[in-house]
Amino acid sequence: MKKLGLLCALASASLFMASYAQTNVNKRVEDLLSKMTLEEKIGQMNQVSFFAVDDKAIAQYSDDDMDTFLVRMGIAGGQGQKKPSEMTKQEKIALIRSEASKMLDKNFTEPIRKGKIGSLLNIVDPEMVNKLQAAALKESRLGIPMIIGRDVIHGFKTIFPIPLGQAASFDPQLVEDGARIAAIEARSTGVNWTFAPMLDISRDARWGRIAESLGEDPYLGGVLGAAMVKGFQGNGNLADPNAIAACVKHFIGYGAAEGGRDYNSTNIPPMLLRNVYLPPFHAAIEAGAATLMTSFNDNDGIPASANSYLLKNVLRDEWKFDGFVVSDWASMTEMIAHGYAKDGKQVAELSANGGVDMEMVSGVYLQYLPELVKEGKVSMSTIDNAVRNILRVKFQMGLFENPYVDTKKPSVLYATNHLKAARQAAIESAILLKNENKTLPLSETKKIAIIGPMADAPHDQLGTWVFDGDKNYTVTPIGALKGDYKHINYVYEPALGYSRDKSTANFEKAKQAAANADVAIVFLGEEAILSGEAHSLSNINLIGVQSDLLKAVKSAGKPVVLVIMAGRPLTIERDLPYADAVLYNFHPGTMGGPAILDLLFGKANPSGKLPVTFVREVGQIPMYYNHNNTGRPAPEKVMTLDEIELEAGQTSLGNTSFYLDSGKNPLYPFGYGLSYSSFEYSNLVLSSTSIPMNGRLTVAVTIKNTSNTDGTEVVQLYIQDKVGSIVRPVKELKGFQRINLKAGETKTVQFELTTNNFAFYNKDLVKKAEKGDFNVWVGGNSNADLKGTFSVTE
Ligand code: BGC
Repeated sequence: MKKLGLLCALASASLFMASYAQTNVNKRVEDLLSKMTLEEKIGQMNQVSFFAVDDKAIAQYSDDDMDTFLVRMGIAGGQGQKKPSEMTKQEKIALIRSEASKMLDKNFTEPIRKGKIGSLLNIVDPEMVNKLQAAALKESRLGIPMIIGRDVIHGFKTIFPIPLGQAASFDPQLVEDGARIAAIEARSTGVNWTFAPMLDISRDARWGRIAESLGEDPYLGGVLGAAMVKGFQGNGNLADPNAIAACVKHFIGYGAAEGGRDYNSTNIPPMLLRNVYLPPFHAAIEAGAATLMTSFNDNDGIPASANSYLLKNVLRDEWKFDGFVVSDWASMTEMIAHGYAKDGKQVAELSANGGVDMEMVSGVYLQYLPELVKEGKVSMSTIDNAVRNILRVKFQMGLFENPYVDTKKPSVLYATNHLKAARQAAIESAILLKNENKTLPLSETKKIAIIGPMADAPHDQLGTWVFDGDKNYTVTPIGALKGDYKHINYVYEPALGYSRDKSTANFEKAKQAAANADVAIVFLGEEAILSGEAHSLSNINLIGVQSDLLKAVKSAGKPVVLVIMAGRPLTIERDLPYADAVLYNFHPGTMGGPAILDLLFGKANPSGKLPVTFVREVGQIPMYYNHNNTGRPAPEKVMTLDEIELEAGQTSLGNTSFYLDSGKNPLYPFGYGLSYSSFEYSNLVLSSTSIPMNGRLTVAVTIKNTSNTDGTEVVQLYIQDKVGSIVRPVKELKGFQRINLKAGETKTVQFELTTNNFAFYNKDLVKKAEKGDFNVWVGGNSNADLKGTFSVTE
C-alpha cells in the first residue's frame, strides 16, 4: 500500500514536472536564448543530413550512393584524390569503412559538441541517435537536443497507401490513425520529426508528386491534412513520447508547376493563392502543425524561400504560426540557379530576412550568417526570432526531458494492429470505377487467371517515398493467394516482368490462362519509380505494352477484371472496353494484396472516391471539378470530331468551350466511385431558403441502400455562389460524411453550415461571405444532381 502511495506520488510529481515544463516554454526559451552565443544560435538554424557508415548501411549503398557519399564527405573526387569512377566497388567500400569513424566524428560528433548542428535528417539507427543526441545534450555547452527529421510520408515501416490513396478514403479518422501508427514506429527508432503532410493542391497528373498529395480540392486537403497533423503529433500532445512533429509542405504552390514538370515556376495570382492553394496549409496550422517547409518553385518570380510576404505577413502575422520554418533540401541555394541570388552569402541574407528559420543541408546559414550579422545585413533580432521558433518547438516536444530512444523496448515495427490498420486503409482507398454485369465481387469457387506485372511486385506496390519500409513485409495479391486466400483455385501468368517491360513473348500464355479460367484478373499500373519527386511524365497512358496485354487477355472471351496500382490518375479510357470491371488503387502499401482480394471477393465493399479528376486525354490537363465558368460554357452534348460536316461553317459548332477531340467532360469526375451496393438520394431539405449573414443552414438528405449488400457511402455536399464580386467556382465541396448502410437501410444525413463556409477572399484580399443566391447539391460525386437553392441576406 505504502509502495503504491509512493508510486502515485512519483507519477503525479513527474506529470507535474512535465506540465510545468510545458507551461513555461516561453520562459525557458528566453532563458536559454540569453545564454547563447551568436555561433550557437546559428547552429540551431543548421540542419545536416546524416550518412550512415556502418557495415549494414554500406552493404545497402548503391554505386551512386557510394559515389555521392565519397565526394560529399571529401574523401574522393577532390584535389589530389582519386575520382569515384576510377575506383572499384571493393576499393570504395574499404575506403568508406576505414574513414567511417573519422568521418562520423568530423562531420557529426564534433560539430554537435560545438553547438553547430540543431537538427539531423535521415538518421534512423536508434543507437546512433542516442550517441549523437548524447553529444548534443551532455557534451555541448548548453545541452540542446537535436530535432531529428525523416520523410515519413505514408508510414514508416508499415506502409500505408500513398497519400493520394488515403485521400480517396474521405475518412479523416483512418488518415489520422495511419499517421499515428507511422509516428509510433518512427519515434521508436529516434525520428521525432516528419516532413509531412504534403498539402500541395495537385491538378496535374503529369506531376509525379501528385502521388504524395491529397488531391485537387482545398477543402478535402484541409480536412485530411489536419487529420494527419493530429495523428503525427499525438492528437495535440506534441510532448507525447510517441508523437513526432509534423511539417506541412511545400509552401507554396509547388503542385502548380508549369506543365507538371517538377520544380518548375508557378504563376498563381493572389486571389487564387488565397482561395485554393493556402487553405489546406491554414487548416493544418490551425490543427497545430509544429513546422512548415518552403517549396522549390518561384511563384510569379519570387522563390518560396525568400517570400517574406507569405512567410511573415501571412504565416506569422495573419495565421499566428508559432512553429518554425525549414527550407526544402537546398531550396535556398537553388535561388542561385533561379537567378535570384548571386552567391551563397546573398542566399543566406534573402532567406533569413525572408523568414526561413532553419536551413536544410546546404550550410549557407552556418557559413555566412556570422558575417551578415556583423555587417548589419541580417539583424540580431531576426536571428533571435528564428532560434526562438526552433527552441519553442523543441521544448514543446519535450525533447529536453525525453531525448533518447529506449532501445530495450519491444519492437513496435510491423505490429499486428499496424498491419491490420494498413489493410483497412488500403480497402478504403481503392476506387471501383467500373463493374459491368456485376462482374465483381467474384465467387470464391471460380477458377481464376492472375495476370500482369503488378500482381506480385512487392517493391512497387509500396509506392514512392518509402525509405524505411521493407519489401519483404509486403503482401502482394499473389502473397495473399498463398496466405488468407490459399483456398482459391488460380493460375498465375505475369506475362510482363514489370510495368515498362515491352516483351510480348508471353502474351499468348496469358491469353491461354484466361481461356482456361472462369475469369481473368489483370494487375497493371506503374512501378513506384514512375511517380514521386522529379518523376514527371508527359504521357500518362498505361506504360509500355500493358494495354496490349489487357487486349490479348480480353480476346480469350472471359470476363476481365482490371486492377490498377499506380502513383497517379492514368488516362485509361482506351483500356475500358477491355475490362468488365476496374478497381483502381493508388499504390496501396504493405497490405495492398489482401486488401484488394478482400474487395475482389466481396469480404469488403469498395467505398473509395476519387480525390482528383480522371481526364480522358493528357491534353485535357488541367481539368478539375471546381473550375470557374467561361462566358461560353459548353452544352451537355457537344459536337465530336467525326460529326463535323465537311467544310462546316466557322461558327456552326457553337463557339463554346470544349475540345473537338475529347469533349468537355473528364473520364470520371472528382468524388466518383462505385460500390457493390447502390444508393439512392432523395428528399433534400434545407432548414431555410434564406439565411442572414452569420446565420446557420442545415441541409438534410435521405439516402437509401437499394441493394441487398451492406455498404458505405461517402455523402458529399457541394455549393455554388451564383454571383460573386469575383467569379466563383461552378461547384465547391463544403462537407462530406462516410456512412454505413445495411442492405435496404435508409438514413438521413445532416450537414450544418454557417455563412463562414461560403466566405472567400475578394479582390481586396479580404475574406468574407457575400449576400446572394446559392445552389447546393448533395450526392455521391461532384456531378450530384439533387439540388436545392437558398440565399444569404445582409
Ligand atoms: C523534398 C522534400 C523532402 C526533402 C527531405 C526534398 O527533395 O522536396 O519533400 O522532405 O527532400 O528529404
